[in-house]
Amino acid sequence: MSNFKQKTVYQIYPKSFKDSNNDGVGDFAGIIEKLPYLHELGVELVWLNPFYPSPQRDNGYDISDYCAIDPRFGTMTEFEQLVAEADRYGIGFMLDMVLNHVSTEHEWFQKALAGDKYYQDFFFLEPAKENGDLPTNWVSKFGGPAWEKFGATDQYYLHLFDVTQADLNWRNPNVRKELFDVVRFWMKKGVKGFRFDVINLIGKDKVLLDDPTGDGKFMYTDKPLVHDYLQEMNVATFGEDVTIVTVGEMSSTTIENCIDYTREDRHELSMAFNFHHLKVDYQDGEKWTLKPFDFEELKMLLHTWGKDMSEGDGWNALFWNNHDQPRALNRFIDVENYRVEGAKMLAATIHLNRGTPYVYMGEEIGMLDPGFDTMEKYVDVESINAYDNLIAAGNSPEMAMKIIQAKSRDNSRVPMQWSSEVNAGFSEGTPWLEVGASYKEINVVTELETGSIFRFYQRLIALRKELPIISMGDYQPYATDSKQVIAYIRETAEEKLIVLNNFYATETEVVLPEEFLAGELLVQNYAHVAIQKVQPLRAYETLALYLKK
Ligand code: GLC
Repeated sequence: MSNFKQKTVYQIYPKSFKDSNNDGVGDFAGIIEKLPYLHELGVELVWLNPFYPSPQRDNGYDISDYCAIDPRFGTMTEFEQLVAEADRYGIGFMLDMVLNHVSTEHEWFQKALAGDKYYQDFFFLEPAKENGDLPTNWVSKFGGPAWEKFGATDQYYLHLFDVTQADLNWRNPNVRKELFDVVRFWMKKGVKGFRFDVINLIGKDKVLLDDPTGDGKFMYTDKPLVHDYLQEMNVATFGEDVTIVTVGEMSSTTIENCIDYTREDRHELSMAFNFHHLKVDYQDGEKWTLKPFDFEELKMLLHTWGKDMSEGDGWNALFWNNHDQPRALNRFIDVENYRVEGAKMLAATIHLNRGTPYVYMGEEIGMLDPGFDTMEKYVDVESINAYDNLIAAGNSPEMAMKIIQAKSRDNSRVPMQWSSEVNAGFSEGTPWLEVGASYKEINVVTELETGSIFRFYQRLIALRKELPIISMGDYQPYATDSKQVIAYIRETAEEKLIVLNNFYATETEVVLPEEFLAGELLVQNYAHVAIQKVQPLRAYETLALYLKK
């Protein structure tokens, strides 16, 4: 067994990490330059978002060639150098495998369009219904219908995402063979893991039917077939190397499925991402709305997932941020007054939890949303569609803008803030996406000189390697009645850990279990902490107490 459970993953959005040739786009050479920084933080795995040739309609998630490199990021030789250099720092890469769909510019789709039956079977092609309606009533996740006319034919192809992202038909064994070859291709390059994009959507039914109640989601998500395909992929590819770490991105999933996706004896994946905890500020489940986060809902979700995954022997991927999410700091914390305390509290909440923590670039220095004020600054296809839809639904331009500002995926995709120099030290050229306004104050140089968030992350990452309880302990919810604290206990046969996290700027208190009064103060985000039976917690305070049994 590999010791992956003691490792922390860092996510790099290559386009925005570091630009070495000043063309405004981050690249492999830029990542090589920053390996010492990642090493100092202590991370051992780095997930890279897609860097393959792509028309970039969906920022690289629309892949036109799975086994090549988009020249703007570098060459294959540079990729191999990157893998070798990172290895010297004890860092391995997890590559993003977007196997649910391909770009319509991919050779397979182009051949299908040209009439090649063999490749037409790679996709979901259906005629309109007899009454002329689209094959099903499913809605694309980026807005509008999920079907588009297939060239000049009478058929339509399925695209659960953008019209240029055609869904692949995994029922066809030739599709699976091709995709497994892709995974093997990258394994041979020495990568140490994979992140499988929207992988719980690959089990679509043979006959696709209308969704009587919703947008189609429950007609194609988490189908039992997904488990079969994952087991098949495991055997055919990464399963042969037990050190490879895999994570599946599970859209609208369930705990039962995530246990099955990740339980070791099922030979599917190492862990799974779910997104329920990042929908607690959606009004009625709708992303493009404004609502303060629902604390009770968040607490319930963290506890239920923590406990049930623990009891079911599943393994969670733990995260607050990624390239699809606005910064958690802006969503959960009063950043005007408590950015630093809040950043640490959020970090402790997941890093001491049961599962594998992910740090999204810039999180370790407390980066914020950029707060762009005009639509011209946004490039993300989802945001642009959402703006149009909000206006069409009768919102004022001011309101639509406010919602985009809070919810756009571009919030996290802005360039990494390295310094207070021009373009935050990311590039001397014009960045593909403008840098955030906060870079003069919030950047790596300033953080390392005078800040404390990076050091806090460093400590959490180191603790996971040192103390078995962090990776091995089970998860027990604690103080579940609290109106502002999310607390939990971790336990193994030898050790115990309690973690208290105040999610508000107001003070509160938690009654500690007696035994922890003699515990060691392991992690805290305030100086001068006295441990008491009735433990007061200041604004966004986090406290972890540890004891050996
Ligand atoms: C995942 C990716 C997202 C992408 C989508 C379609 O959700 O994280 O960025 O747009 O899949 O591939």
